[in-house]
Amino acid sequence: MSERIRIPDVGRAHDEILRTMEGFRAGDADWRDGRTWSLVYYAGPEHHELLKQASALFFAENALNPMAFRSLKRMEAEVVQMSASMLHGPEGCVGTLTTGGTESVLMAVKAARDRARAKRPWVTRPEVVAPSTIHVALDKAAHYFGMKVRYVDVGPDFRADPRAMERRINRNTVLVCASAPQYPHGVVDPIAEIGAIAERHAIPFHVDACVGGFLLPWVEKLGHPVPVFDFRVPGVTSMSADLHKYGFAAKGASLVLYRDMSYLRHQFFVSTDWSGGIYASPSMTGTRAGGPIAAAWASLVAMGEEGFLDHTRRAMDAAKRLQAGLRAIAELTVFGEPDATIVSWGAKRPVGEGGVNLFAIADRLQSKGWSVDRQQNPPSIHCTVTSNHGPVIDDYLRDVREAVGHVALHPELSASGNAAMYGMMAKVPFRALVKKSVLGVMEALYGTSIEPPDPDKIGEADAGPLMKVVNQYGGTIDAVLEKLQGFVGKKPGSRA
Ligand SMILES: Cc1ncc(COP(=O)(O)O)c(C=O)c1O
Repeated sequence: MSERIRIPDVGRAHDEILRTMEGFRAGDADWRDGRTWSLVYYAGPEHHELLKQASALFFAENALNPMAFRSLKRMEAEVVQMSASMLHGPEGCVGTLTTGGTESVLMAVKAARDRARAKRPWVTRPEVVAPSTIHVALDKAAHYFGMKVRYVDVGPDFRADPRAMERRINRNTVLVCASAPQYPHGVVDPIAEIGAIAERHAIPFHVDACVGGFLLPWVEKLGHPVPVFDFRVPGVTSMSADLHKYGFAAKGASLVLYRDMSYLRHQFFVSTDWSGGIYASPSMTGTRAGGPIAAAWASLVAMGEEGFLDHTRRAMDAAKRLQAGLRAIAELTVFGEPDATIVSWGAKRPVGEGGVNLFAIADRLQSKGWSVDRQQNPPSIHCTVTSNHGPVIDDYLRDVREAVGHVALHPELSASGNAAMYGMMAKVPFRALVKKSVLGVMEALYGTSIEPPDPDKIGEADAGPLMKVVNQYGGTIDAVLEKLQGFVGKKPGSRA
């Protein structure tokens, strides 16, 4: 093992530090040129510069004490109000900023749990009903807060099935959730129908609009058909919307909104007996960084409706060109009818029925410098399209066409490297085995080594028993898994 790094005895020169850090970036994903499809939402160099300056202005301040930093409280309140208007929140609509979509979802779930504790104390095993496509942040929330999610299968159009959801509501249900749009395929769940059900059962209803909250309002304003998805639906009691996604704010900023204070109240944490003093905090974190709040405020007022509409128009145009180009490739299909700018695509037919191996195509695209987001159930590649992708859609489509042709000529590619690993991970019915392998990767990533593992080698070296089986049995493994799948009778990895 190499020697453990220590804090230097003497501090280094600032310019040298910055140069070193620039050097660290050499192997990073190239987001400025549109080669990544999520992770970074880039609205161009001028907006980027503004975010940096706004963030720097308040980088030291701490919104934990809103009395000490009234500036931050003011900006947070203004962001909440601007967003509440955009999402048709009623007069009493309130909310807080959080560090990201996951924290917003965590907070909505925690608030619903604690509200139920206050109103229905006999519920000791609180449950949430949600479509199987809901973002995994809900799973995380349930895991953290000791709750159970009852996942419900979506329809063939990937949208939530309201009637099936209603059937899963029981006396333990403290929250119903749906998405606008859901992340995997970009379709908006039938919020109006689910809202009516939630209202009828007097259960709070959270709409996760983390990815769509700052996008769908503009898509709708541009005249595209969008199912009603926000507080206009009377049953909707809370919404999450990420400023650091299509709000084009700096990282670390999302928003959770509630219809009124009677819901938000249950998000707060108050401790009265600590020797450090009476302590009150609105959300998960203690210290709340000022930079992201300031940058979020700056982003909304710099964009204005005009800016948001312009970026949305360009993103929609790019997404539609991408969809059309993918649909024109005989071997491929686009899943569902996306309502906005998420495009999820894959093989028209499964490999067993003569289709192309999508994960081998993904590897080929990655080797050409594209960052690839792989999904399962069905195997698909996920593209979150922004205005920044307009100029690269044609290049991407050209590389996809080339990759499809290459994989068709080299079927052996599907039995090696990442393609084999992802293919297998998607099919193994024993999910505990998959989990063990992923935990192995996490341990490699967060272990004592400074150098992150080579992404191309993770599959080989660190994915544990699963990868060993792949390496040993190569191509035959697929057939065995297909049989097992039939035997177990459930799609591996399906949540419902
Ligand atoms: C619908 C939805 N909800 C929640 C999240 C989680 O957001 P974050 O990664 O900011 O925690 C995402 C992220 O993509 C999302 O798309």
